[in-house]
Amino acid sequence: MISFEINGQSVEVNVDENTPLLWVIRDILNLKGTKFGCGKAACGACTIHVNEEAVRSCSYAVKYAEGKKIKTIEGLGNEERPHPVQKAWIEEIVPQCGYCQPGFMMATAALLNRNPNPSDEDIDNNIINICRCGTYYRMRKAIRRAVEINNSKPEESIKNG
Ligand code: FES
Ligand code: FES
Repeated sequence: MISFEINGQSVEVNVDENTPLLWVIRDILNLKGTKFGCGKAACGACTIHVNEEAVRSCSYAVKYAEGKKIKTIEGLGNEERPHPVQKAWIEEIVPQCGYCQPGFMMATAALLNRNPNPSDEDIDNNIINICRCGTYYRMRKAIRRAVEINNSKPEESIKNG
């Protein structure tokens, strides 16, 4: 049995300890927002947070989640209280097909958690997910907008998100 917290709830799962966390999240916990793209840590579609750090869950065995705090896109915010990254994504109308977007938002939220004012270079070095639809330009605008929202409204800050 492997125990961890996901989106604020404690769970226990009885699976092979080497099962990728992505499949535990999607198939056992039934949280479908985290996507499968490449399966080899190359595209970022499966990005989640483990103890607030961005992790590619397709290549992260569930055994490493023991005792940790996991967050998926479902736990980032909600309609009543969206995370600043989600607000910015909506304002800038970033998604096209949408498939890659949860991974990008989770990667961005993790970046802003540890660096609330990233430079263009910081963004280039950290947001290295792949978008088949090529939404990179609008994504960059949305990251900048998320920084503004986060810094202008402390009550909505990412640390509280
Ligand atoms: S599916 Fe995990 S990085 Fe592509
Ligand atoms: S919005 Fe379609 S893959 Fe990124």
